[in-house]
Amino acid sequence: MPLPATALAELATIAARYPQARSGLLPMLHLVQASEGRITPEGIEACAEILGISAAEVSGVATFYTMYKRKPVGDYHVGVCTNTLCAVMGGDVIFERLKDHLDVGNDETTADGKITLEHVECNAACDYAPVMMVNWEFMDNMTPQSATQLVDDLREGNEVRSTRGPKICTWREAERVLAGFNDGLADEGPAAGPASLVGLEIARERGWTAPESGRRTAELAPPSSPEAAAEEADTSRAESETKVDESPADTKHVDNPAKGDEAK
Ligand code: FES
Repeated sequence: MPLPATALAELATIAARYPQARSGLLPMLHLVQASEGRITPEGIEACAEILGISAAEVSGVATFYTMYKRKPVGDYHVGVCTNTLCAVMGGDVIFERLKDHLDVGNDETTADGKITLEHVECNAACDYAPVMMVNWEFMDNMTPQSATQLVDDLREGNEVRSTRGPKICTWREAERVLAGFNDGLADEGPAAGPASLVGLEIARERGWTAPESGRRTAELAPPSSPEAAAEEADTSRAESETKVDESPADTKHVDNPAKGDEAK
């Protein structure tokens, strides 16, 4: 079925955002999913025509990235992280429980069309393992019980919020956001939760700081001449000889502050 005229106009709008129109292909494919519920052959043709590239090129991109779906996705895409940390913290158990509870396999949709279940790779949220995603919103610190309650609420139409705040919308609405159409909710919820900030707190307590950017830049800059390179090598050698002369016990000031603490 051809895409609606509004979707075609929005695809052209996305392409026009980029100096090179084909750079808009990824968000355009998200918009096809928002409109059609999956990547359709007609959606591929429409993108190709607007961008002036072949359907094979569009298809190559759409089949490469796992966020593009060729089968219809349910109202809610539920991802369970089964990468190493989440897996050992309970992700594998959650995924198995949900497969049983929903009576679906990986990348399958429930008979009522509500939930598509998929195991997903690390979401860079390991400090909240085991983590799930609903339409790419985080659900942190999940358990088999909270996971089954989550999918039951989604199927029953109850309001569900990410553990980080935002209200869960439908998969198609989320795809529209990924296509670059702002839903005004980008700032809902915290940018980073307490577990992600523990390292920063420790660094502040102990006065740890990053190297000065100017010094680092100078260190990384190549010598301006062979003479400068020789002088730099002499200085570096002298510095390392000085360090060797220092007492072995004086190891408080080292690159790795943790080692300094051990020495205290
Ligand atoms: S392993 Fe699951 S978020 Fe990193």
